[in-house]
This record gives sequence, structure tokens and C-alpha cells, in this order.
Amino acid sequence: MSKKPTTYFLLKLNSLVKSHRVKFFGLWLLHKFNRRYLSVNFDPVNACNLRCKMCYFTDENYVKTLKGVFLKEDLPLWAERILPRALKLQVGCGTEPTLYKHLDVIFTLAKQYNVPHISLTTNANLLERESLKQWIKNGLNEIIVSLHGVHRESYKFFMGKGDYDKFHQALQWITELKATHPNLSLRINYTFNKDNFNELQDFFEVYGKYKIDTIQLRPIRKLGETAYHDFDLAPIYAQFPKLITNFKVNAKQKNISIIAPESIERLENRKNTESLIFNYTYCYISPTAFWHEDFDWKNETYNAYCRRTDWSKKILENVWKTQTQMQALQTENLNYDIELN
Ligand SMILES: C[S@@+](CC[C@H](N)C(=O)[O-])C[C@H]1O[C@@H](n2cnc3c(N)ncnc32)[C@H](O)[C@@H]1O
Ligand code: SF4
Repeated sequence: MSKKPTTYFLLKLNSLVKSHRVKFFGLWLLHKFNRRYLSVNFDPVNACNLRCKMCYFTDENYVKTLKGVFLKEDLPLWAERILPRALKLQVGCGTEPTLYKHLDVIFTLAKQYNVPHISLTTNANLLERESLKQWIKNGLNEIIVSLHGVHRESYKFFMGKGDYDKFHQALQWITELKATHPNLSLRINYTFNKDNFNELQDFFEVYGKYKIDTIQLRPIRKLGETAYHDFDLAPIYAQFPKLITNFKVNAKQKNISIIAPESIERLENRKNTESLIFNYTYCYISPTAFWHEDFDWKNETYNAYCRRTDWSKKILENVWKTQTQMQALQTENLNYDIELN
């Protein structure tokens, strides 16, 4: 069985430790002692080969704003600047990473900098057996594939331009590669709405043959003016608990971990206390963004930036804040029991 990545444990720990003072003090120590605490989310290319109906790639105005490819020659400096602080590297966050021609270089650099958890999130349609093999050899240890429909019809409907057979072929290759790479883990992200939720009852019949380690069931969120825009989950409130309970029983028999909300109503009304720490550990990089807007990454190091902006003091200030002050800082509702990307 493949090893569960360290970040799953740390994220669980973050949700178990309730005191924001303890969390921020821990983070401050990690920062002061030059340890890893960043979750680096990297989109090396601002494009996608699919047009999933729930995704902003069906929002024409938004797509027009997405441009650029991260230069290959900038990768060594990218790595030097951020990877020594990375606990996790997530390649593929808001766009499709397999369109990038130099993923092998990214994974090699991440391995060279000893990043403990190296993950790829993809629609899997462009995966090739040989490149997968190479990436795993270079250091990739988790593949997350996205799915918006269990059956061919709904897959084709929701994952515009998606190829159901190629998707299954990719899962088959990953399953085979896992036999020789026991540390590789496979996760499926299933984004559900009221129209693709019920077919989850057939999930294990269709996907039970693949070696899946984790399944995340993610409720749809409004991500722009998308082609599918029915965000109301109330029609499935009633069937949700029963379906999820059965789903978890089936998953347990196959030793699969489930990341899913306990109930949608509770989730939709829940305040996000865990996200506060993510404001300090989440680092987003793309061809047009590199972590904080004022980080001059081509000319200064991470530590130089932190000194210049009193980053350590900013972390420590949170230790002294009251619960009420922290609540006022909360930004958005948490969408998953554990949010990873
Ligand atoms: C935007 S995609 C980028 C990575 C890659 N292209 C992929 O699809 O895996 C990241 C994740 O967002 C999910 N997603 C897309 N539309 C969503 C929505 N409206 N609400 C919640 N998650 C969504 C996708 O299923 C995917 O797992
Ligand atoms: S969900 Fe991923 S694959 Fe689908 S359109 Fe969005 S970025 Fe592309």
C-alpha cells in the first residue's frame, strides 16, 4: 500500500489543533529556524485543453485574462527561491499542467531540493505512460485526477472536450505503475453538483478496478460565469448522508481514504477557522504571479523578502490576537473537511 503523504497528516493536525495561538507560534518557529512550511501551488502554464462546464475555462471573459508560460530558463531560480521552504509542491492548481513541456525539470528540481511531497493535479487526458514513468522517477509521488461524472455520458457532458477512454487508460497506467512504485499515491477529485451526485452510487462498479488511495468529494463552487451554473445543492441534502455513508463503507473495504463533508448544510454554513493559517502557508506561482505581489523573486531571496517586510513579526502578531480578532479576519467558508488545493 502506498504511503499517505506527510501533508495529509499535517493538515489533519491543523484541523485538530484548535488554538490559533499554538498554530501561529508553531509556524513562527518553523519560519525562524528556516524550516519548511509552505504549500507551493504552481501553474506553469495559463491554459487548459478542456472546457469543463463547472470550471471558469467556460467563462470567456476570464479565459481572455489567462496568458503565458513559465520560462524553462527561470525554473532553476524558481526552485532556489521557494523550494527550500516547501513542504509540498502542488503542480496544477487552477489550469492544466500537462500542457507544459518541462514538467520533468520541475519534478527533478523538487526532488533535488528534497521537497517531501510532490503532487500533480490533472484532467489526465494528455497523460502518456512513458512520461508518467519518467516523472515518477524524477520525484513525483502523488497524482490527483479530476472527474466530474462517473459514467461516459455525464463525463462527456461535464468535462467539455474530455475523452472518457483516455481518462480510463490513464488510470490503468497509474494502477500498473503503482505496482512497481509503492510510494506513488493516486487520488480522485470528484466535483459534484445536484446532477452528477447520484451516480456516485455506481462509482466502485466503474472505478473499483483501479488502485485508488484517496477520493475527495468536492461540492461545486461558483468560480465565475461558468457554462453550468446551478450551484444549489439543496435538492441533494436529503440523499447526501445515506449515499456518503454507503460510499465510505465501500471505500473502507478497498482501503481508500475519503475526504468529504459530513453534511452539505453544515458545510455551507461553516466558518473557516482553519484557513487562517493557510494565508501564511499558501504560496501561488504562475507565469504571471509569484507568491506575494511585492516579492521581487528575480532579485531577492525568500529570507531577504521576509526581513524586508517583517514577515516573522506578522506571523507572531497572530499569537497575541484574541479569538474575536481572529474571527474578524476569516475570509471564506471552508469547502472541504480537509482542503488541499
Ligand atoms: C481548476 S482544476 C485545475 C487542475 C486540472 N486542470 C484538473 O482539472 O485537475 C482544479 C480542480 O478544480 C475542480 N473544479 C472545477 N470546477 C469546479 C467548481 N465549479 N467547483 C469546485 N471545484 C471545481 C476540478 O475538478 C479540479 O479538481
Ligand atoms: S477543471 Fe481542470 S481540466 Fe477542467 S476546464 Fe478546469 S482547468 Fe481544465
